[in-house]
Amino acid sequence: MYQLVPPTNRSRQVDLAEVYAYPTGARRWVRANMVASADGAATASGKSEGISGEADKRVFGVLRALADVVLVGAGTVRAEQYRPARVRQQYQEARAAAGQAPTAAIAVVTRAMDLDWTMPLFTSPAVPTIVLTATDAPQDQVDAAAEAGAEVIAAGTGEVDLALAVDRLAERGLGRILCEGGPHLLGQLAASGKLDELCLSIAPQLRGGDSMRVLAGPDLTDGLPLILHSLLTEDGFLFSRYLVGGTQGSVSEPAKEG
Ligand SMILES: NC(=O)c1ccc[n+]([C@@H]2O[C@H](COP(=O)([O-])OP(=O)(O)OC[C@H]3O[C@@H](n4cnc5c(N)ncnc54)[C@H](OP(=O)(O)O)[C@@H]3O)[C@@H](O)[C@H]2O)c1
Repeated sequence: MYQLVPPTNRSRQVDLAEVYAYPTGARRWVRANMVASADGAATASGKSEGISGEADKRVFGVLRALADVVLVGAGTVRAEQYRPARVRQQYQEARAAAGQAPTAAIAVVTRAMDLDWTMPLFTSPAVPTIVLTATDAPQDQVDAAAEAGAEVIAAGTGEVDLALAVDRLAERGLGRILCEGGPHLLGQLAASGKLDELCLSIAPQLRGGDSMRVLAGPDLTDGLPLILHSLLTEDGFLFSRYLVGGTQGSVSEPAKEG
């Protein structure tokens, strides 16, 4: 993997954990990671698998390894049969030194609670899965989730108030938040004003059709300005890291030429 922005003449491969390090000192940082085709499709036959690739999976793995918690919409959990995050030996030392659990917890956002509680995501994660739902979620499903081993957190009534959900996670010491989509969840997160960063992988392929883009749902009336922080490449993929304009926090500069 090579760095294009900021430009560098170093021929060595970049250290992904260094490039994607969370800002030092930030108590809470919300990053999203999505992959799209060159024409903006976020799904292929209802999944992201056909758009992703080997290098993208590596970035995905590193972003998970750095996070305290992975925020994901129930639609994605259902479509992709989400599994618990794996404990990767190579990151254990760094996670322990940073005071993190062996792996990121997965936090599923759902209003309907229409999930299969027998999935390994709920019954056998290394770190208990969190279910973020509304205060008026169906009680029988709340009980079923808790019985399966999930920690149920209510944030908002009628639907999950994402700004509140982010605060609830940070209060539990889960401040390094990685949103893995899908597009409807990310659209709401961006609208909530809590998104600090977007890591967007662009795959070297066209998809056509009418699949979703990486954000769906509310119109961001004035647009959300982004600042390009770094751009990497491998196998024709582009891996951009954008900071949301006006975001507070000291993000270290990637290595520059010279
Ligand atoms: N390209 C990529 O990087 C990428 C990443 C992830 C997913 N995907 C793809 O995107 C598709 C799924 O995306 P999607 O947009 O349809 O679904 P999604 O965003 O993953 O999930 C939507 C669901 O999340 C829950 N939800 C979202 N906001 C909520 C709120 N404020 N309060 C309560 N619940 C809330 C609701 O669940 P309930 O219905 O349970 O109430 C809603 O139906 C799949 O095809 C997946 O493969 C692509």
